[in-house]
Amino acid sequence: MYRKLQQLSFSFYDKAQTGQLMSRATADIEMLRRFLSFGILRLVSSFLTMGFVVAFLLLRSPRLTLLSMSTMPFLIAVIYIFATKIRPRYRRIQQQMATMTSVLQEGISGVRVVKAFAQEEREIERFRRENWEYLDQNVTTVRLWAFFFPLMAFLGGVGGAIVLWFGGNMVITGEISLGDLLAFQTLLAQLIMPVRMVGWLVNMATQAGAAGQRVFEILDTESEVREKPGARNLRECQGAVALNSVSFSYDSENMVLKDVNIEAPPGKSVAILGATGSGKSSIINLIPRFYDVSAGSITVDGTDIRDFTLQSLRSHIAIVSQETFLFSTTIRDNIAYGKPDATDEEVAAAAKAAQIHDFIVTLPEGYQSKVGERGIGLSGGQKQRVAIARALLTNSRILILDEAMSSVDVETEYLIQLALAELMKNRTTFVIAQRLSTVMGADEIVILQDGVITQRGTHAELYSASEDYRDIVHLQLQRPEPEEPAEKGGGE
Ligand SMILES: Nc1ncnc2c1ncn2[C@@H]1O[C@H](COP(=O)(O)OP(=O)(O)O)[C@@H](O)[C@H]1O
Ligand SMILES: [Mg+2]
Repeated sequence: MYRKLQQLSFSFYDKAQTGQLMSRATADIEMLRRFLSFGILRLVSSFLTMGFVVAFLLLRSPRLTLLSMSTMPFLIAVIYIFATKIRPRYRRIQQQMATMTSVLQEGISGVRVVKAFAQEEREIERFRRENWEYLDQNVTTVRLWAFFFPLMAFLGGVGGAIVLWFGGNMVITGEISLGDLLAFQTLLAQLIMPVRMVGWLVNMATQAGAAGQRVFEILDTESEVREKPGARNLRECQGAVALNSVSFSYDSENMVLKDVNIEAPPGKSVAILGATGSGKSSIINLIPRFYDVSAGSITVDGTDIRDFTLQSLRSHIAIVSQETFLFSTTIRDNIAYGKPDATDEEVAAAAKAAQIHDFIVTLPEGYQSKVGERGIGLSGGQKQRVAIARALLTNSRILILDEAMSSVDVETEYLIQLALAELMKNRTTFVIAQRLSTVMGADEIVILQDGVITQRGTHAELYSASEDYRDIVHLQLQRPEPEEPAEKGGGE
């Protein structure tokens, strides 16, 4: 299950709810585990016991045995009705458990927003409602048990009564001895437990069936980004990237990118400019195949990226995405995430290039400081710089920076820029930035409007040729001078 979750592509996670997935990976798997370990064992032992007991009963008296089994068809019918009635209820219970987990997960992940808007009571109420719903649904299944389990016991008892009635008569007529009847009754009593157990097991199997269905829904999901059979490894990468008439849609309805052509020769940099929602992030998500193009193609070193294995393609691409995520481990391990065997020197070099080294060494535990839940907190800009260091360390031929410096102040950005200029020399770079300083040095600037490239060229060409570009420069980008502290922050 976890393997599958790791393999599924971005589009799966666009639609999935984290709480739902967690619930399936824990609560549903637990149901399955209980049935597969405890359940199956009991099922086997119950059937063995029943088999032996019935065999002995038949040896004693075939006629009495058949009489005692006369309620069997009713018992089977009752169990069958019970199972069909309870199955949809278990499905709803597991679903409700997932809803509860979702509320829990969102309430905890989003606790800062909850507090900022003072909505604690509302969140508690929301959880309480789902919790009661869960209780109510469980109570309806308990009602079903309360009706069906005594019914099953009653049918068993009727079997015993029939044996006493007919067996007693047989003793009176001398057909069998009193001892035979007693032995028969004693054996028959051995059947009570296994029959009850089968009732329980049917219950458990139904529950496991509902859980299994939910688990298999995930296991059967096909990742939208798939490796071709016989895909080859991209070993040596020159870093030539080209987008050829690429069109792309997330939902196969609204085209987010239309006929985009970009050519980035090895070592060159392309800056993508455009308003929020114009499709900048979408373009760069296509290069590592986080999504697949809807039409057109993307090539690396002249070969369609769909001909490479995902792993080898991505190993040549370093990416700093718009949202920074760090794992709750040491700063060192976060920086070395893409290259766990990196030496301390390599880690420090990457941190220096990303302008975060000086900060890290001031921490009491330096590179061994923990980030995340139990460790120290980092500011937005510090997290971004750790993410930049993480990308730089992999030493990939293709570097993608998606608004990587949006929460870094102008001065730091200028310093990172200097370090990057060195690093970008032999790397193909795609950079999305809001500030002119980041964009000016690019070999080509493309301007994106509603998914269409409207203009392209170098900064000088565009500045002299295009009024739109001059507007963007003056309105959207901040002024390049790093010395002006008043220009800090901001962005889109
Ligand atoms: N995961 C997604 N699923 C569906 N639509 C998306 C998704 N991500 C972005 N979009 C849509 O695609 C368009 C371009 O988004 P994006 O590439 O993120 O823009 P930018 O990075 O330029 O701000 C927007 O209209 C946005 O609503
Ligand atoms: Mg974006």
